[in-house]
Amino acid sequence: MKKVERICPAKVNLFLKILGTRPDGYHELLTLMQTIDLADSIEVWEEGSSVEMQCDQKALPTSDLNLMVKAAWFFLTKARLKTGVRMRLVKRVPVAAGLGGGSSDGAHTLLALNELFGHPLSAGDLWELAARLGSDVPFFLTGGLAVCRGRGEIVEPVAYNEKWCFVLINPGVPLSTRSVYEAVNPIIDSRLTASEDLLRIVLGAVQEKDCQKLSQVLCNDLEAPAIQKMPRLAEIKRALREAGSAGAWVAGSGPTIFGIAAKEDQAREISQKAQNLLSNKSYRFYVAKSFLPSGK
Ligand code: C5P
Repeated sequence: MKKVERICPAKVNLFLKILGTRPDGYHELLTLMQTIDLADSIEVWEEGSSVEMQCDQKALPTSDLNLMVKAAWFFLTKARLKTGVRMRLVKRVPVAAGLGGGSSDGAHTLLALNELFGHPLSAGDLWELAARLGSDVPFFLTGGLAVCRGRGEIVEPVAYNEKWCFVLINPGVPLSTRSVYEAVNPIIDSRLTASEDLLRIVLGAVQEKDCQKLSQVLCNDLEAPAIQKMPRLAEIKRALREAGSAGAWVAGSGPTIFGIAAKEDQAREISQKAQNLLSNKSYRFYVAKSFLPSGK
C-alpha cells in the first residue's frame, strides 16, 4: 500500500504589524514568517470510504475539528475522489502555542494527499483550500522565509537559504489566537508606509545575518495583547534576555517566547541558562534552526 510521509515544520513571525481591521472581522497583516525545524510528521494512505486519523498525543482532538481531517475532506471533495483516507500524526510542536503547528499539519495534509493521488489539484486549488482552512495555512504550502499579507494568506516567498537558530520557551499552557486578536488595541497607529519601511529593514538584517540589528527591529503587534492575557510571558522574556539572548519576542499570537542566535552552540547555551533561571516544571525549552523549503 502506498503511503506518503511529510514533515510539518512550525514557524516564527520575525515581524508582525497589524495594519487595520477588515470588514470580515479579521485583521489586515504585514508579517514575515520563517519555518523552523521543530516539526510534526504525518503519514497518509488510501483506505476505507471516510477520513480518519490517529495521533500519538491522545488529548488532541481527531474529530472533524482537527485541521488535518478538515483538509482531507476539502481535498477529496475538490478532487472529486470517492474514496477514504487514513492519517497518522506524530505531534512535537506544542498546541495553541503561536507556532502554527495545526496550520502546518493542515497544509501538509493537502500536499501529501495531492502526491498520494497523483497531483489531481493545481497549486492554485491547494492555495484556495489552504486559505479556507486558516489564515496562515497557505504559508506552509511553500514555507521557508516569506512576507505574508491580507489575513496572512497572500504569500510572497523570499529566496533565502541561510539558517538562523532559535531558542524557544513554551509555558506549557495554550493561548487562544482569537482571544489575543480580540485584545488588540482597536486604535491602530502603524501606518502602512512606515510598516513597509520597517519590513525592508528587518529583511535587510535577516539577509545580512546581523543578529544585533535584527534584535533591534524585530517586532510583533500581538505581543502586548498576548502578555496582557498571560502576564507570566513578561517574566519568560526577561529570563531569556538575562540568559544572553539579544532579544525575546512572543511567537505569533503566543504564548511561546523565542530568541534568535546566529550559531547553534550559542542557542544551546542560552537555552540552558534560561532553564536554570526559570524553575517552572511545566515550561518546555527547544532549540531549533530555520527549515528551508528544500525540506532541510
Ligand atoms: O484564520 P484562523 O482560523 O487561523 O484565525 C483564528 C482567529 O484569529 C480568527 O478567528 C480571528 O479571530 C483571528 N485572526 C484575525 N486576523 C487575522 C488572522 C486571525 O483576527 N489576520
